[in-house]
Amino acid sequence: MTDIELKQPLADIQTEEDVTRLVYTFYDKVRADELLGPVFDKAIADWSPHLEIMCNFWSTMLLYSGRYKGDPMSKHFSLPIDPSHFSQWLLLFKGTVDALFQGEVADNAKARAKNIARIMQSMLGLTPNNNN
Ligand code: HEM
Repeated sequence: MTDIELKQPLADIQTEEDVTRLVYTFYDKVRADELLGPVFDKAIADWSPHLEIMCNFWSTMLLYSGRYKGDPMSKHFSLPIDPSHFSQWLLLFKGTVDALFQGEVADNAKARAKNIARIMQSMLGLTPNNNN
């Protein structure tokens, strides 16, 4: 055995199972995060429905399933968030996508997240940090 590991190339996001893995892994990181964890924990009493909504959301964004019918913007107006929260959210999201997947849909996921974060911040009257 050598120390050199042959890395398998990662697959792209292709199925509902992939979306579920992305969402669950991402929110595990969010909940453990010093900055974001408390904001989510205060707002969300029961995580199962939230995770299901988020799987539906990303399945609609990335696989065009049409399962999400909600309004992503409205839930964010009453949260105590500023651009630093969005930067951290995007950092964790990008890190999660890159650790699990690679390809066109994975790139699309990161681009969509970045765009939506920008729109949200603009609707909240916030000026995004330079890196997001
Ligand atoms: C500062 C970063 C963010 C924080 C702290 C945050 C927090 C939250 C919280 C606490 C909820 C649940 C609200 C509730 O059920 O009462 C929620 C819902 C949601 N968030 Fe975020 N969020 C952030 C950024 C984003 C971004 C960038 C996106 C999209 C790319 C997003 C998409 C959604 C969606 C789709 C929902 C579900 C809305 C519904 O119930 O239909 N969030 N968010």
